[in-house]
Amino acid sequence: MTAPDLAHGENFSLEHYLDPAAHTFEQRFAEFRPYVEHARGSGFVLREVAGPSGALVPVRDPSTGGTDELIMLGSNNYLGLGNEPRIAEAAIAAIREYGVGHGGPPLLNGTTTLHRLLEERLAELKGSEAAMVFSSGYAANVGWVTGLLRKGDVLLYDEQSHASLYDGIQLGRVRSMAFAHNDLRHLRHRLMQIRWRNPGANVVVAVEGVYSMDGDIAPLPEIRALCDAFGAWLAVDDAHGTGVLGARGHGTAEHFGLGPGAVELSMGTFSKVFAGTGGFVTGSRDMVDTLRFFARSYMFSAALAPPVVAAVLAGIDFLAEHPERVRQLHDNVAYFVRGLRAMGFAVDPQTAIIPILVPQRLAVADVVTALHREGVFVNGVEFPAVPRDQQRLRISMMATLTQDHLDRALDRIDTVARRFGFHPEQEGIA
Ligand SMILES: Cc1ncc(COP(=O)(O)O)c(C=O)c1O
Repeated sequence: MTAPDLAHGENFSLEHYLDPAAHTFEQRFAEFRPYVEHARGSGFVLREVAGPSGALVPVRDPSTGGTDELIMLGSNNYLGLGNEPRIAEAAIAAIREYGVGHGGPPLLNGTTTLHRLLEERLAELKGSEAAMVFSSGYAANVGWVTGLLRKGDVLLYDEQSHASLYDGIQLGRVRSMAFAHNDLRHLRHRLMQIRWRNPGANVVVAVEGVYSMDGDIAPLPEIRALCDAFGAWLAVDDAHGTGVLGARGHGTAEHFGLGPGAVELSMGTFSKVFAGTGGFVTGSRDMVDTLRFFARSYMFSAALAPPVVAAVLAGIDFLAEHPERVRQLHDNVAYFVRGLRAMGFAVDPQTAIIPILVPQRLAVADVVTALHREGVFVNGVEFPAVPRDQQRLRISMMATLTQDHLDRALDRIDTVARRFGFHPEQEGIA
C-alpha cells in the first residue's frame, strides 16, 4: 500500500492508502489482505473477549481454543461499571419489564418511560434544560452537526476531533474550518477571520473535553471566553470526560467549575464510563426539540434497547453514590504513572488515558502481541490515526485494577520495552 503523509486526526479514509491502479474489487481486497492478515494474526485487532472486561479479561486464544486471563489496560470501562452486579441486575429487570426492544425509532414507538427518565437524568448531570439519547456516540455527533447547522453557518473544530464529527461535517456539507489542537491563538484568529467575512453567521466551536489519543484536556474557560467575545456557541464532546473529570464525575465543565449552561451543546457517549452503547446530546429544550426532527441519525434509527437504557440509569445512580470510584481511578493513574516515570518513561497524563510512544522503527502490532503473551491487554494505535512518530500503546486506566495488577503490568511493560529496545534506560531511544 502507498500512503500520503496526513498530519494527524481522524479525518482519513483507508481509501487514501490503496493504490489507485487497484481497480477491481478483487484487486483492492488483495492489496489490503496482507495488512489485515498481519493485524489479525498478531492479535492487534479483533481479539475475541470471552467474558467480562474486568480488571482481568478472558481472551480466546485461536491457536489452542482456550482462554488467557489478561490484565485489562485497554478498556474505557473506566469505573468498572460494565460489570457492577447492581447495574447488570437493573438491565435484567428492564428486559423482564420492557422486553429486549421495541423495534422502532424514538419519535414513533421507541421511547419508553426509561428513555424519558434517562433523558431527564442526563440533562441534570450536565446542567442543561433537556437531553436526547442516540443509538451511539457516533450517531449523536453526526446527528447534532447535520441537524443544527445549515447553509451559511460555520463550524470551527479542533483538528484532533473524533471521526464522527468529521463525518457529520461531510454528510451535512457543513462549512467548517479546523484550528490547531488546543491552540487558543489559532482559534481566536479563526474566529476573527469568520467574523470579518460573515459578521452575522451562526458560529459553533466544537472541542472535546478530553482528547481520546493523548488524554489531554481542552482549556474550556478560555475557549468559552473566546466564544463569548465572538458570539459563538460552544459544543463539547465529553466522551472521555464524563465519569472521569470533576469531583462528582460530571465531566470537563465540572472540572473547571463552569456553571450550568456554560456550554450550549454537550455531547457524550455510554460506550466509555457506562461501558454500554449509545450517546446523548444536552442543551436548551428548543435545541433538543429541533434536533429530534432534524438529526437524521436520531429520526431514522431504532431507539436504544431498554436494558442498555436501564444500565446507564443505574450507572448514573452508582456514580452519584460512589464518588470514591472516581478518586480511585485518579489514584490508580497516579500510581501507574509513578511506576512508568521510575522506569524513565516521560508520561504526563491529565486523565485516564496514558500513551506510551513506540519508536517508528518498530511495528506496534508486534509490541502489542508481546504484551498479550506476557498477560497484558493493551491497545496499539498507529498511523494514520496518529502521526508516524507518535505511534503508541494507548493505556486506559480502570478504577477496579488493584495495586497488584498495576505492579504486574508495570513489570511486563518493563520486560517488553527492554526486549524491543525502547526502554528509556537503553541508550539513545528514550
Ligand atoms: C471523542 C469521541 N467522540 C465520539 C465517540 C463515538 O462514541 P461511540 O463509541 O458511542 O459511538 C468516541 C468513541 O470512540 C470518542 O472517543
